[in-house]
Amino acid sequence: MANADLNQQSPAPLADVADYYTDTLNRHGPSARGVDWNGEESQNLRFTQLARLINTSAADAFSVNDLGCGYGALLNFLIAQYPAVRYQGYDISAKMIEAAQTRHASAGAARFFHASKPGQRADYSFASGIFNVRLDHPDSEWRDHVLQTLDVLDRSSSRGFAFNCLTSYSDSGKMRPYLYYADPCDLFAHCKRAYARDVALLHDYGLYEFTLLVRKTL
Ligand SMILES: C[S@@+](CC[C@H](N)C(=O)[O-])C[C@H]1O[C@@H](n2cnc3c(N)ncnc32)[C@H](O)[C@@H]1O
Repeated sequence: MANADLNQQSPAPLADVADYYTDTLNRHGPSARGVDWNGEESQNLRFTQLARLINTSAADAFSVNDLGCGYGALLNFLIAQYPAVRYQGYDISAKMIEAAQTRHASAGAARFFHASKPGQRADYSFASGIFNVRLDHPDSEWRDHVLQTLDVLDRSSSRGFAFNCLTSYSDSGKMRPYLYYADPCDLFAHCKRAYARDVALLHDYGLYEFTLLVRKTL
């Protein structure tokens, strides 16, 4: 298995989360259910929101970091629209990375790493679903983890980054204690203050979540 240049192992606080996703993969295989989504339709709907960050023309080459890549579904989504994309996926579950490497063995411009941080800068970084499952970690600890990870995404992206979170505006009867529901306005304000003037909050695509696009000025 290939390793990223930086931070080659899951930090201890995420070992339980890595085990959670290894278990979903073992039960459902490399599929939307295997990364704990309800299905492919919503998985792709999330990718559509994240990809709104990209303002490079389809024919041009650009690089992408996919933090929490799972089995690499975002790679398929991107290649269909941007055949020249150079993609690097990172995941804290070693089994996910094995599944991604097997699935994309012939994708020459893609590499996968067992890591909790990108090892290299890319034009764009994406993170879909990495903040949702917090298990027993308390709210304040998990919010700190989210903000630290956003700092990492910021440092490892030259044109910008995008991520999604479950929303605190979810119906209370459907909320689960092992999941983290972020306040979209809190994270929007944080991204504006800490990272970029151009930040878009997308909270209109029909899932109990939101996406933030952070565009950097070149
Ligand atoms: C909900 S799944 C989504 C997978 C993929 N992004 C997709 O949409 O198909 C979240 C994935 O992120 C990984 N993950 C969670 N936190 C992470 C972190 N801080 N760094 C890297 N991977 C992480 C999990 O192991 C899991 O495979």
